[in-house]
Parts: sequence; C-alpha cells; structure tokens
Amino acid sequence: MDNRVIIFDTTLRDGEQSPGASMTPAEKLRLAHALDELGVDVMEAGFPVSSPDDFLGVQQIARKVRRPVIAALARTRAGDIDRAGEALADAAHPRIHVFIATSPVHLERKLGISEEECLEQTVQAVERAKRYTDDVEFSAEDATRTPIPFLCRVVQVAVEAGATTINIPDTVGYTHPREIMEYFRRLREDVEGIEKVVLSTHCHNDLGLATANSLAAVEAGARQVECTINGIGERAGNAALEEVVMALRVRRDLLGFETNIQTERIHPTSRLLTQITGIHPQPNKAIVGRNAFAHEAGIHQDGMLKERSTYEIMEPSMVGVPGSRLVLGKHSGRHALKARYRELGHDVEKEELDRAYKLFKLLADQKKDILDEDILAILHHGTTDDIPITFGLQKMKVECGGQWSYAHLVLDRKDEGPVKAQGKGDGPIAAAFDAVDKVVGWPVELDDLTIRAATPGRDAVGEVTLRARVGGKTFTGRGASTDVVDAAVRAYLHALNKAAHARDLEASALEKAGELWGV
Ligand code: KIV
Ligand code: ZN
Repeated sequence: MDNRVIIFDTTLRDGEQSPGASMTPAEKLRLAHALDELGVDVMEAGFPVSSPDDFLGVQQIARKVRRPVIAALARTRAGDIDRAGEALADAAHPRIHVFIATSPVHLERKLGISEEECLEQTVQAVERAKRYTDDVEFSAEDATRTPIPFLCRVVQVAVEAGATTINIPDTVGYTHPREIMEYFRRLREDVEGIEKVVLSTHCHNDLGLATANSLAAVEAGARQVECTINGIGERAGNAALEEVVMALRVRRDLLGFETNIQTERIHPTSRLLTQITGIHPQPNKAIVGRNAFAHEAGIHQDGMLKERSTYEIMEPSMVGVPGSRLVLGKHSGRHALKARYRELGHDVEKEELDRAYKLFKLLADQKKDILDEDILAILHHGTTDDIPITFGLQKMKVECGGQWSYAHLVLDRKDEGPVKAQGKGDGPIAAAFDAVDKVVGWPVELDDLTIRAATPGRDAVGEVTLRARVGGKTFTGRGASTDVVDAAVRAYLHALNKAAHARDLEASALEKAGELWGV
C-alpha cells in the first residue's frame, strides 16, 4: 500500500461553517491561492447550491487555482449535483463530493427515509455526478454511528456506481481511535473492489480526538485525510491540518507516512486565515498557537539554551514560524521590505507592496524596532480585497476622559468627498464608531471586537479584528496601527466597505433582473 497520504483541505467549506468564519468570494480566492502554495492535494472550495456567493466562490477558485483537485459538495439531490457540476465546469481537476446520512437517527429523524431509499439515492447521486467528472467522492454522513453491516452495503453500492474516493466522516466527533480502526478494517474486508478506491477519513473534534482518530484511520488504511487550517469547523471544529501533517512528519519513524505539504507554509497560511476571519487560534493550540514554541519555565529555558532538543520536538522554522528578529529600520527601502516578506514566505508585489511600504514608513516613524511580526501585521491589514473604498479615513482626533469620550473625524465618502462628523461614547473607540455611524447612516451591530498586540513592548502594533452586522449579513474587518483607536476605526471601515460593496452588487443584480423582466 502506498505510504503517501492525500491532504484534502476543507477550510473553505466545513471550516467556513464555523460561527463567524464566513468569507467573501474574494477572501476565499486569496486563501485558496495560499492553500495551493501550502501544497494541499485537494481543496473543497464550497457547497455551490447553498448560496450564490458559494457558487461564485467555487467557480472563481476552479478557474484560477489550477494545480490541486478542486472539490464541490452536493447532497444526493439532482439540483445540488448539477449546480456543483456547473461551478466546476472550468476546473483543471474537478471533483464532485456527494453525501448522504447513513446512521439510524439521521435516516429516521432527519431524512425520514428507509435504508433501501438511502441506497437508491446513493447510486443515483454517484451516477449523476459521473456525468460531470470521473473524480467522484462519496461520504456517508454520521458513518461512525452507522451499524457496520449497513455502512458496508452503502459503500458497496457507491463503489459499484463509480465513486473513486469513499469518505467515512465522524460527523459528530463521537468515535475513538480503536473504533475507527475497526470501521476501516471491516470496510476493507467486506466491500468488494474497495482496493480500487481511496479511503478517506473526516473527523470532528467534539471530544478533542479528531487528530488521534485521523491518524488511527490512516494506520487502518485511509489514504486521504480531510482537515482544516487551525482546525476550524462546525462546533468544536475539524481535524487540524497542521496537527495531522506535523504528526505524520515528526513521527515518521513510527508511522511511516508522507504528505505533499510544504510545512514551512503552515504558519503563513494559518495567519492569513486568522486575518481573514478574525478568529485567533487559542494561545496553546498545537503548532500554530502563539505559545506553541514559547518556553516559559526557567528549567525549560535553561535546557533549551544547552540543547534545543531537550524541550523541542520540531524547530519553529519547520512550520514557518518567524523568529522575533529586529529586521528593518526607518531607512530601509522597498527592496529590503520586499526581500524580508519573501524570506517570511510572502511574495508581495506592486500595489500590495506600495501599500505595505506606506504603512511601514508610518510605523517606522512611531516605532524604533520593527520586528517580523510588525511587518506581517501590516501586510494584510487594511487591504480592501479588491473592494472599492466607499468610506476612507482622512483624519481623526479623540478626547478621552470622564464618562464620555469625544471623537472628531473626517471621512472621504466616495462620490461626495470629505465629510466631517463628531461622535461621543463611553470610551474613545465607542466615540469614534459613533462618528463613523453618523456618516454611514445605516444601523450597524457589532458582534465581536478583539484587540491584540502583534509584538511585545509599549510601542507594539495593535491588531484589531471585528465582526459587524449590517442588514442581516456579517462582515469581518481588520486594522493595524500603533494606535489602537486608529486600528479599530480602520477595522470598522474595512467591514463597512465590504457591506457597501455587497449592497452595490445586490442593487446591480436587481437592476439587471428588472431589465430582464421589463420592470
Ligand atoms: O462532517 C460531515 O459529515 C461532513 C460531510 C458533509 C462530509 O462534513
Ligand atoms: Zn464535517
């Protein structure tokens, strides 16, 4: 049996189902390029029938990301499969991923169908997907709570109908490593023709066992692991790509498997996801948490100074963690900045470099020592993701004190030029947001706001990420500055610019529909 494990990344589909992790099609495309560089073999780009945005996201990724297999999810319904097929029409390597639940509770209580109907739908769905592509994956949702004899029957008909990958999801994170091994062992023993397909594992983390279960499945014959960056996903999340990949790499001596992942791209990809979604991994999260390579206890620090391997099982550079180095100063030029980004794994060109360099110069005026984390913090912050700027910050002054703080600002409003506004609130951020609201004029609800220091020290760059709800939709915003009020306003405007763009797109779609129907 091959010792290579296929890495199927589902950050853009299952990961995006995390509360607050929704991404715009442009953000999905940016992440898809990063996943491509990371070396994932398959990326699940979305669930096209679920929304027009999801369809668009899959279609764009299929057109622009050409190396990996691009998968789109579909239920067994004909409409779902056709929509997935359409979204993947231009893909270099398309895969349709069909799924149906197989456990008694799902069949009886959710779908209201019999086992026989489930078998029929499986066959019809796989056959329909084969009209669009030879590469068809079948998933038995809630497989690990399905009696093994019935699971074997479903998998048997899926294989006979032409599925090329069979996925066994632990949908509710219920299984145990010993049990999942038994599932794979029985499938390999009882299903005819199983050796012709790739067996896949897809584990959720409700009991904190997702990585352990994925590794157990690989030992029992799975050769595809479905996972997400930072382990984001429904409820407690999915198996974390970085954990599975690094466990396979660090314990190759024991397990004997390989992946195609460029492990030094793990940290930049994790960071990009965090910046897009505003969801930071917990500090002690394996591999990508802020403390994953920090050594606090004196005994540990002493050991590390004498011999790193006393307390370190992998070097931070293996996963692309930048050292806290003094990198650049006030007089560094664009080339030096570009070269340092390159060393940190980011190819920054043209407008992106111009924008980052401008922020870098501002930062250099405010901060003496500029570290890698500083320049990474400004890289993606304030980018507009190709979204037009409807509201831009020109100037701001805040007065803090007593119960009320006051903010005076000038915003550049598209088509109208500079608009002045004043706001007040319980603290400078609330006052500044109040002033912004007066210019914008829509009701905005703030779901979440996080401020965190990108670097140690008093003159640290503050990173702000927030989620703003406008007209029932949630938009993520981010900003970075040595002044946290400035960073917060930039993050707020970032989210509001996305909301304005979404409104413009909706209005032009309605106009087009009006022209079409003569209204
Ligand atoms: O967890 C699950 O069962 C899924 C399937 C749709 C593959 O995400
Ligand atoms: Zn899942």
